[in-house]
Amino acid sequence: MALNTGVMVEKEEANRTLRILFRKGLVRKDLKIIYNGTKVIIPVKSAESIVHATTVQADFEERKNRISPQDLISMELEKLRVSTTIHDNWIRFGDALVIKESIWKNPDKILLETVARKMGLKTIYLDRGIKSGCRRTPSVSRILGPGGEVTHRENGIIYTFDPEKVMFSPGNVNARISEGRRDYSGMIILDMFAGIGYFSLHIAKFSGNNTVFSCEINPDSYHFLNRNVDLNSLQDSVIPLLGDCRSVAPAIKADYILMGHFQCLDYLVTAILRSKIGTIINFHVLVPTDRLDRYHYEIQSHARSLGCVLDFMDQYVVKSFGPHMWHISVKMRVSNLLL
Ligand SMILES: C[S@@+](CC[C@H](N)C(=O)[O-])C[C@H]1O[C@@H](n2cnc3c(N)ncnc32)[C@H](O)[C@@H]1O
Repeated sequence: MALNTGVMVEKEEANRTLRILFRKGLVRKDLKIIYNGTKVIIPVKSAESIVHATTVQADFEERKNRISPQDLISMELEKLRVSTTIHDNWIRFGDALVIKESIWKNPDKILLETVARKMGLKTIYLDRGIKSGCRRTPSVSRILGPGGEVTHRENGIIYTFDPEKVMFSPGNVNARISEGRRDYSGMIILDMFAGIGYFSLHIAKFSGNNTVFSCEINPDSYHFLNRNVDLNSLQDSVIPLLGDCRSVAPAIKADYILMGHFQCLDYLVTAILRSKIGTIINFHVLVPTDRLDRYHYEIQSHARSLGCVLDFMDQYVVKSFGPHMWHISVKMRVSNLLL
């Protein structure tokens, strides 16, 4: 029998004590709490800083498979006598992990190697944020392991990409899913800023039989867009086009136009020239809180100055984009063209 340290409290005090212990990072999540009549025994890492509590030794049952990677890493580091804080703020893509420099600062080698070993990773990247510029290339560098392409599965789509070369935003996942849930059967779709296929692939795979023209200016992203079209067997629906959408978008009249780029209003003429009455245009814009109630009038007025009348359809917040700033997806229908 292996005895471990626990804190024994009355049942009524259990929740409050647990909250305090959690806040102090003292709860052992690998062991189960013991409920015994009116007493509750909470397994703890150390009882030193717990005042007014009865410390006991008890035979706790192990919580099999319920240990988070973060705890596994902490335990391993404790064994190695390395004292450091583990953040669980990471994004996993297959056998690679991307951590944010703003949170992890300068992680040392032992920490990185432990994280990799415990999580079964090959490569760890440090993300310094998106570089500015229209191609939105990531400022990600490899800090452990061989690097290279990763494979990521998300809601039935397989993506492959190199995190050092192209961006992948997990925060937009709901936007991608919601696109895939709509019925675009028989439609001609123009994705003006396709990236590695975030929206194009969802629409081609889940929104009925349609044709998606996918423009991408960045050769690296275009390379992975093609790979992803093949990986998902969507060659009959998605047509990747390399170059600036203003020149490579074909002279079609699209039913649906996606503009997944915050500077999309600069490209409105291109969209309008590929529109007909009834075309739906999906804008992705950054809007400060104090303009949320009127930014769509600004889009409409800009479109009208270009000879296009847009009716507001719907909008939703994709995600918060820093203090008082929102990433908004808004759909408008072309109701008149005065060209
Ligand atoms: C922010 S990413 C958006 C990707 C995807 N639509 C999304 O919302 O997740 C913008 C993509 O548009 C591409 N891009 C930027 N300017 C472009 C242009 N003029 N023509 C075609 N693609 C462009 C960038 O290289 C990048 O891959």
